[in-house]
Parts: sequence; structure tokens; C-alpha cells
Amino acid sequence: MKQTVEPVLQDKFERRFLYLRLSITDVCNFKCNYCLPDGYRPNGTKNSSFLQLDEIQRVVSAFAHCGTNKVRITGGEPSLRKDFTEIIASVAQTQGIEKVATTTNGYRMAEHVAQWRDAGLTHINVSVDSLDANQFNAITGQDRFKQVMSGIDRAFEVGFKQVKVNTVLMKDLNDYSLPQFLDWIKHRPIQLRFIELMQTGEMDDLFARHHVSGVSIRNRLIAQGWLLKSRQANDGPAQVYYHPDYLGEIGLIMPYEKGFCTSCNRLRVSAMGKLHLCLFGEGGLDLRHLLTNDDDQPALIEFIQQQLETKKVSHFLDQGNSGATPHLASIGG
Ligand code: 5AD
Ligand code: SF4
Repeated sequence: MKQTVEPVLQDKFERRFLYLRLSITDVCNFKCNYCLPDGYRPNGTKNSSFLQLDEIQRVVSAFAHCGTNKVRITGGEPSLRKDFTEIIASVAQTQGIEKVATTTNGYRMAEHVAQWRDAGLTHINVSVDSLDANQFNAITGQDRFKQVMSGIDRAFEVGFKQVKVNTVLMKDLNDYSLPQFLDWIKHRPIQLRFIELMQTGEMDDLFARHHVSGVSIRNRLIAQGWLLKSRQANDGPAQVYYHPDYLGEIGLIMPYEKGFCTSCNRLRVSAMGKLHLCLFGEGGLDLRHLLTNDDDQPALIEFIQQQLETKKVSHFLDQGNSGATPHLASIGG
């Protein structure tokens, strides 16, 4: 029998990439202070210029052909796209894709999460930066705390076994609320992930004012009996802690810590169809000309593999690099 060797995505540092983060829109209706403090500004990009469904299918099939088994659909706010449910279905139906995740601000979750699950969504992350409605409003510019909380409840009702919550850790805005966050996850199967604030190109002095290392949270957790979960082969860079008295877990994402990039397992494609080898790389590599026709798949794969050879060992954030990324809404976090 003839044996064909499936292509793989691997870099010079022997990291394998089995996880694709695919942004489908830059548009967002929230104004998170660390991301889009003045709200989304169209800068001439028409919504119609974001990747279309057929292009999305081609990107995902090419990655799946190289061993990718997980796709996270991101934005901006991905659920603002009218065809979001169709996109989920199309990704879920791609041969080889086992996990279909999304990261949402939760705005549409209560109303639509059942539909997303029916379409094949397997994992969901929602951003919640504060459990205090006023503080939530102050950080996100949207008075939608209750709506987002109902979205989380609804996700459990429709069958998600776990919901991941992203909390961007900020000094004086939410770092003091650890006890409240812990109470919240005591009886809920939530993995609450504190993400250290990352400096991006357009950030003013927010970073200087509010960046705080996750080490302080880690020390407090350890002192209270939280234990580090052992890592699985394809785990990303989060350090996950559990506690026998809690149903929920705490994840720490500390991009400034040494060795953070060693476990990098993801590649990103932006809503404009650009491949980003790193969240903090220099611009993106255009794939769009290879997305017009199914026959281009071999050329698309070859291009991605070649570019991957240039992926650097680290983001060098700890040396003050913030790359060319203006804010994370532009490439989906
Ligand atoms: N630093 C850390 N996290 C950020 N996010 C967006 N911008 C930043 C930043 N500058 C988070 C969002 C969302 C996830 C995709 O990335 O809160 O949860
Ligand atoms: Fe929107 Fe997410 Fe950026 Fe907040 S962090 S403004 S929800 S894209």
C-alpha cells in the first residue's frame, strides 16, 4: 500500500503547531481600556473585506491537513458576524478538527450560545474583568455585566461542562478582588484565567499604571493550598491551579515570565487573512492570494511551512518589545 506522509507544522525549535487561532472580524462593541479604549474605529476596512466563509474553510482545511486539531474563532468580537453560527458549523465539519473554541465578550452569549453549541462549538472562553458591575462597566465601557453573567449560566444549561473566563489582571482595578473571584468559582466549573496585561503598540500609560505580575496571585494561591496541575502534552502556556475545596480552577497566563514561549503551540490568522507567527510579531504574512481556490491548498501549506522556519524562539516582551501589534483586537489575542 502506498504511504503518504502528511505535512506537519513544526518550527526550528521543534515546537509543533496543532492549534489555530482564527480571527474573523476586527470589529468589537466593547471598549476595554487595555484594548480599544476609544471603541472600534473602522479605518476604512469594510466588513465585507474580512475573510469570507469559503476562505475560512480553505484556511482551516489546510491547517487540519497538517495536523491541526483545534481551532479557536476570535475577533474583535466574533459573534458580531452575522454568519458566526455558520462559521462554527463549517469549522466543526472540517475533517481532523476535534475542538472548536471561541473567545467572546459574552454580549450575545445568553441569546445564542445554544445555537453555537448545536453548530458544533466545543469550548467557550468569555472575558470578565470584574465581578463588580460598576467596575466591569468602567473597564469595558459597556454596562452589560448581568447579560454576560446570564450568558455563562446559559452555557452551562445548554451542556458546556466547563467555561473558561479570561480576566486581564490589573493593579488597583481587579487584583484586589482575588477573594471574590475565588468565591465565584467555588461551586462553578469555571477555569478563571488571569492574563497579565501585555503592552501593545497603541497603549498609553495604562501599562505603567496597571501592569502587575501574576506572581503575587500565584503566591496567594499557593499559600491557600492551591496546587499546580501537571501539564499535558498539548497544553498552552497557562499554569493551572486546582484546590480540593473548589469546583473551579485558576489559570495564570504570564507572558513576561521566562520560558513562556517554550510551550507555544499556536499560530494565528487575522481577519484580513494574514498569518501571524507570534502575537507580537512584525505585521503578518498575507495568505489571501492562496485562498481563492481549493486547488491552491498545496501551495498554501508550503508557504505556511516555509514561513514557520522564520518563527523566533521568543516574543522578547521582557526586553520591552511590543512588536507591531497595535492592540489585540487586530489579531484576536
Ligand atoms: N493584555 C492582556 N490581555 C488582553 N486581552 C486583550 N488585550 C489584552 C492585553 N493588552 C485579552 C482579552 C480577551 C483575550 C482574547 O485577550 O481580555 O480575554
Ligand atoms: Fe473587544 Fe475583546 Fe478588545 Fe474588549 S478585549 S475591546 S471585548 S476585542
